Amino acid sequence: MSATRTQVGIVGAGPAGLFLAHLLHRHGIESVILETRSREEVEGTIRAGVLEQWTVDLMNELGLGGRMGQEAHFHRGITLRFGGGSHHLDFEDLTGGKRVTVYPQHEVLKDLIAARLADGGDVRFGVRDVELHDLETERPRLTYRDGDGGVFEVCCDFIAGCDGFHGPSRPHLAGRTEYGKLYPFGWLGVLVEAPPSHHELIYARHERGFALLSTRSPEIQRLYIQCGPKDDPADYPDELIWSELHRRLEAEDGWTLTEGRIFQKGVIGMRSFVCDPMQHGRLFIAGDAAHIVPPTGAKGLNLAVADAVYLSRGLECFYRTGRRDLLERYSETCLRRIWRAERFSWSMTTMLHTDPHESAFEDRIHLADLDYVVHSRAAATALAENYVGLPLD
Ligand code: APR
Ligand code: PHB
Repeated sequence: MSATRTQVGIVGAGPAGLFLAHLLHRHGIESVILETRSREEVEGTIRAGVLEQWTVDLMNELGLGGRMGQEAHFHRGITLRFGGGSHHLDFEDLTGGKRVTVYPQHEVLKDLIAARLADGGDVRFGVRDVELHDLETERPRLTYRDGDGGVFEVCCDFIAGCDGFHGPSRPHLAGRTEYGKLYPFGWLGVLVEAPPSHHELIYARHERGFALLSTRSPEIQRLYIQCGPKDDPADYPDELIWSELHRRLEAEDGWTLTEGRIFQKGVIGMRSFVCDPMQHGRLFIAGDAAHIVPPTGAKGLNLAVADAVYLSRGLECFYRTGRRDLLERYSETCLRRIWRAERFSWSMTTMLHTDPHESAFEDRIHLADLDYVVHSRAAATALAENYVGLPLD
């Protein structure tokens, strides 16, 4: 068995793991990342990317913002549509100058991977059978097999479980409590070859269900309609998707949706999930390994990055001073921010979707919520402040 020694062993090369490796490198702390997928798969999985202002600032600070500065779209607000009307929320005005940046997650990952490898970082793609060992000792270990079946070991001081919702790290947290909610609906998402229909995102609540207009690039648009959580995309012919999108997204203001060739369809389920605590012995979990938000609030990527920041601060403090207090408070620090993002994502989700299990009374309450948001500056500010991102403590 071939062995490597490092300071922090990181499981998973998603946003949490890669940001963590960069943040540690900035403080001179070594890491090794183990990732089951190939580099091409990681870089080719197309996901949303709504970046909060501080996430953008962090990318720039880490010297990773070059391509983002050229290719990302800066949005000063969103449009909410319901009851036949259309209402723009101007985040920049409501939050004193903050905007959101739309730059797809896989583009963020490409920039992080290229820069990490250029810095001589150790990122091992295509590994198998990753296992975590000796987490309650000062010398935890990771073992894995490479593509040819060879067995390898990484001996570390700490292990960061950044391996997503289905990864092997979370089950090691003995005595954890898991909080969760499955929603009785999902999103049918399509990628379309078309120019943008609008310069910002449109979120719609319609009696037939939610719809969202988003974008990936000047040539490719991303659109969603609410569907059943286990629906088969094959049951949605293109004509049905377009007719639902037109009905749900178009209001009485004359705006129309531009159609194009649909080249990808998929259904995503919706859940909220939190694991408490997020640490045990020398293992710390971060990102989707510890929490899931439904995508309506666009918080998933930013929350993963926030965990990486808090963990890097704890590790930096430990290596510089020997103090363990920040590391000991890692879970508590992250969970305050996580619960606020969970609350926001849940409230956006319930406000904007129709729920077959809810009564007509609850339906009217959600419409009243929307009416309040678009007619009260205080309510609009609360939504805007959460959407652009609460400050990192
Ligand atoms: N060994 C090594 N790597 C693993 C293993 C394993 N056994 N299991 C999973 N992984 C890898 C996955 O292949 C993936 O690349 O861990 C990575 C986890 O990345 P993400 O799922 O993207 O999670 P995270 O980094 O926490 O980022 C959260 O990603 O899923 C979106 O919406 C979510 O935006 C949010 C963000
Ligand atoms: C997306 O572009 O896929 C997207 C945007 C905003 C959301 C969710 C998804 O809230």
